[in-house]
Amino acid sequence: MTFILALDQGTTSSRSILFDRAGEALGVAQQEFAQHFPQPGWVEHDAEVIWQTQLDTARQVLRETGTDPRDIAAIGIANQRETAVLWDRKTGQPIHHAIVWQDRRTAAFCQQLIEEGHAPTIRRKTGLVVDAYFSASKLRWMLDRVEGARDAAERGELAFGTIDSWLIYRLTGGQRHVTDPSNASRTMLYNLHDHAWDTELLELFDIPASVLPEVVDSSAVVGESDADVLGAAIPIAGLAGDQQAALFGNQCVSPGELKTTYGTGCFMLMNTGDIPVDSAHRLLTTVAWRIAGETTYALEGSVFIGGAVVQWLRDGLGLIVKASEIEALAASVPDCGGVTLVPAFAGLGAPYWDADARALIAGITRGTTKAHFARAALEGIAFQVADVMGVMEKDAGRKIEAMRVDGGASANNLLMQMQANLSQCEVIRPRVTETTALGAAYLAGLAVGFWESQEQIAAQWSAERTFAAEIAEEAAEAQRAQWSRAVERAAGWDRAAS
Ligand code: G3P
Repeated sequence: MTFILALDQGTTSSRSILFDRAGEALGVAQQEFAQHFPQPGWVEHDAEVIWQTQLDTARQVLRETGTDPRDIAAIGIANQRETAVLWDRKTGQPIHHAIVWQDRRTAAFCQQLIEEGHAPTIRRKTGLVVDAYFSASKLRWMLDRVEGARDAAERGELAFGTIDSWLIYRLTGGQRHVTDPSNASRTMLYNLHDHAWDTELLELFDIPASVLPEVVDSSAVVGESDADVLGAAIPIAGLAGDQQAALFGNQCVSPGELKTTYGTGCFMLMNTGDIPVDSAHRLLTTVAWRIAGETTYALEGSVFIGGAVVQWLRDGLGLIVKASEIEALAASVPDCGGVTLVPAFAGLGAPYWDADARALIAGITRGTTKAHFARAALEGIAFQVADVMGVMEKDAGRKIEAMRVDGGASANNLLMQMQANLSQCEVIRPRVTETTALGAAYLAGLAVGFWESQEQIAAQWSAERTFAAEIAEEAAEAQRAQWSRAVERAAGWDRAAS
């Protein structure tokens, strides 16, 4: 048994990566898939397409590397979190498009929960801020709005899951309906302290317990792939939300260690060990992973739009043809020329939690070029992460001196330098930036003895490059003050319009 197959099901693409025992990626297959925007603020995926693209990439990576599926020791899964799928247990068919984490359709309902005073209880039980981001209100919406759904759910005919559950259900030919605590902790239905679905919250959201998956460890054999699916019965042995998987893959395994992943969004997670630390600054308390029944927690700052702004420049505005062109375009000007871009396309996440904020571009003059837009887009990503770091430091009660990074956009040297400048800390990029998939692979490999210990895994991590701040603190503060002025203008934009 020589390989681990990691499935990395993200917001905009499905990827499959084959890892060897040294933690090296031997092959990668990737497919982007369609985003559906049926109304402003709504974001949907076709769950069937998610499954098909994931399956295709898995088969492709095996084919291209000439790997016999019988040589796969285990499968590990990392997935976009919160995105809600509801399917028919008998047919295995989704009853509606998956409602994506970025979707804002339940913002008014969440506001109502806040006004009715439920936020402190929800926070105490789940560690989450009340927001449309999480799964519970999306699941409730489907039960209420899809004809016959609620009755079918009451009869026990429907299954709910985040993407991990959905993929495992399909991989096992409908045999297993499970999730792990890192995913469960993003639903707003999982009690962090009791380690179980919370009856009171199920009542509040009007969710029948019969739709929920069983919660299993993040690193354990939870089932086997149906032999017809990949050509062999392979143990499925690791599962975690993609951001928690990246925390593991980037080896932030001791309390106080943190990373930011630059994917569709940007997610900063700090390992807090076996303590579910409560944030005083609207960060989220979340499960990092559960191994052998032991839960590790994290504090998280979620930024909704990261690399997605680059995708928008490419697909929405046509300013670039390939996402990778952004760095050269942005670097062709020495600064943003006074332009600030607040990419609040899907509202603002941490630390603002403003569902009604909308994106804005401020400071345009006759001298503004597309290069300034490109640079302001990158800076907008770095400013948001710097905001999260500011509150993470307050919660931690110390200055953060260094942060590990990963994810697609961490390859962008200009962005990483901006981050070091604005956050006034060292930004450390590891040699392997495929940490999400690697984390899922590690979780799976540990469960089947492919890797013997966490120490053996830790020895595989090494830094590729460190970016240090090149501007003085005062200069960083001045830039962040300008950014804050722009954020104030983006705040509540949609609310003001209605
Ligand atoms: O919480 C959403 C997050 O899991 C999405 O991750 O990698 O698709 O940006 P990504």
